[in-house]
Amino acid sequence: MKRKKVSIIGAGHVGASTAQLLAHSGICDVVLFDVVEGMPQGKALDLSEACPLWNSASTVTGTNDYADTAGSDVIVVTAGIARKPGMSRDDLLKTNAEIVGAVGKGITAASPNGVIIAVTNPMDVMAHLLYKTTGFPHHRVMGMGGVLDAARFSTFVAWELNVAPGAVNSVILGGHGDQMVPMPRFTTVGGVPVTELIPPDRINALVERTRSGGAEIVSLLKTGSAYYAPAASTFQMVKAIIFDEKRPLPAACYLTGQYGVSGLYAGVPAILGAAGVERIIELKLNKHEHEEFTRSAGAVASLVKILNL
Ligand code: NAI
Ligand code: 2OP
Repeated sequence: MKRKKVSIIGAGHVGASTAQLLAHSGICDVVLFDVVEGMPQGKALDLSEACPLWNSASTVTGTNDYADTAGSDVIVVTAGIARKPGMSRDDLLKTNAEIVGAVGKGITAASPNGVIIAVTNPMDVMAHLLYKTTGFPHHRVMGMGGVLDAARFSTFVAWELNVAPGAVNSVILGGHGDQMVPMPRFTTVGGVPVTELIPPDRINALVERTRSGGAEIVSLLKTGSAYYAPAASTFQMVKAIIFDEKRPLPAACYLTGQYGVSGLYAGVPAILGAAGVERIIELKLNKHEHEEFTRSAGAVASLVKILNL
């Protein structure tokens, strides 16, 4: 079977780490694109030289030319600037919108049939921008944020209960911002909701730590934001698409009335497969959860409005 082609636009921390996971696993050929000359080529050569050690037959190409990304099955967009201490994801809006707008044009010309995963922050808004600039159907443009936020919540729940992190199945809705909506009622350990396992005050503390999970890492790193868990999250989404897994994963999806929201990207559980977002799962929210989701989607909408999308 011919290997799928995955292009990563932006060969920085998240982009290169995602490329490493993909090349290591051997599940696709990888193209690393960046505007900095030599850097994507250097990282690609380094990754290629690791492939024999991983017994991987993936090819890894570094480039500054969109022509090399042509015909990609999946395009991951990590191009842009990352947060520094004191900055929110939203502070990146204008700079990253210019960068991602240009990226959208490059993708449209080179890979008109690909599925796009937006990673650049503020991610839900960048997904919206890519949807508009590419003109792709919305099921082929999604964003990565929920897989990461859910992984963070799962980590904190696992530490709290002293269970294997992989045994925790977390659900998080809303935008990938400070108003994200962790959903303890739907978060389970071995099928049991965490609301039955952890007292409310401790759940609240874990929810707050998850909401500020990105900022916690920024404040420790001081020069950038998280990339290992973001890359692992992106890898899961790429894999679900290229293997047509029909896997339920949280993703920023374009909503057309689901959860009471229309014409906007926000994080919801979705079935990911070869077509991209194949279905959105609608959970039955209680009043409080619904209000929180609406508030979070409203925060995304206010940024979309600034960009006049
Ligand atoms: P980074 O600074 O290490 O890498 C960004 C790369 O984009 C740089 O190599 C830069 O040269 C490149 N770039 C800039 N303009 C470009 C253009 N026009 N075309 C192609 N490449 C271009 O940053 P890092 O840590 O990789 O983060 C990337 C973005 O992802 C940031 O906006 C960050 O906030 C976001 N992020 C989002 C997450 C999420 O869950 N959605 C998680 C982690 C990071
Ligand atoms: C994170 O959550 C910065 O969005 C990035 O780590």
